[in-house]
Amino acid sequence: MRNLDEHTITQAVLTRNANADDARLREIMTSLVQHLHAFARETKLTEPEWEKGIEFLTAVGQICSPTRQEFILLSDTLGLSTLVTAQNHKKPDGCTEATVFGPFHVQNAPQYDLGADISDGLPGVPWYVRGSIKDIDGNPVPHAVIEVWQADDAGFYDVQKPELGQETYQGRAVLQADSEGLYHFKTIVPECYPIPHDGPVGKMLQALDRHPWRPAHLHFMIISPNHERLVTHVFREHGEYLDSDAVFGVRSSLIADWVEHQPGVDPYGEKVDTPYFTLDFDFVLNPVTR
Ligand code: BEZ
Ligand code: FE
Repeated sequence: MRNLDEHTITQAVLTRNANADDARLREIMTSLVQHLHAFARETKLTEPEWEKGIEFLTAVGQICSPTRQEFILLSDTLGLSTLVTAQNHKKPDGCTEATVFGPFHVQNAPQYDLGADISDGLPGVPWYVRGSIKDIDGNPVPHAVIEVWQADDAGFYDVQKPELGQETYQGRAVLQADSEGLYHFKTIVPECYPIPHDGPVGKMLQALDRHPWRPAHLHFMIISPNHERLVTHVFREHGEYLDSDAVFGVRSSLIADWVEHQPGVDPYGEKVDTPYFTLDFDFVLNPVTR
């Protein structure tokens, strides 16, 4: 292949890739090359512009670390994460909807018994979260594994606080629903937060006149052997940014009333001297089709 020009280069690359053994890889790379080339043609991309693009992607890679996932932020802010989630989790009506995973989940979060305080000492407004896990026919799903993770009352996750060290977790837990598919735990009310915006993705948002904020939410991942894994959040009704989430993750069905209560007796029968909140949220899992 010689003397390739703007009209022949695309087919030349596709032909070069055509021997890949993996059919799915071939399909994905064919489409990617076609779309990338179409993008360059459509925008009449200049050399200085593509140099800037490469500088940007290089910066995205360079800032990544085990606790800083800039490529996930890029995918999220470009709406690609929501697109991939949406097209892979089409479910029957009545199932709890999925939303973006985000960059703040960690493996090996601490395990807690139901009823535990998973905030592990975080200051904030007490919050009692409880509900059920059922299948689409209304049957309880017993013993599902429930992972939760959340920001604190200033909008930061534990992994964003290097002073905590690697083995200290706050506001994250692995729990297990009981034999009737019920779960409950105590934590603190999380606040809205800006996604990390001190890097290249933050600069991109600024250049596009976009804000980096996410509405207040609690992350859940629910795992049960006969059901599709559910990765989702529960958002706060009437909260800020519900209609302008920086990562396009809000779904109306995931917005719930975080109910405020005056000081008194909490759901566990303990005296509370401050106002507190409760959240009741029931999950419905989609069965795995085998
Ligand atoms: C999160 O909710 O943790 C999140 C999701 C996408 C980007 C940044 C944060
Ligand atoms: Fe989050």
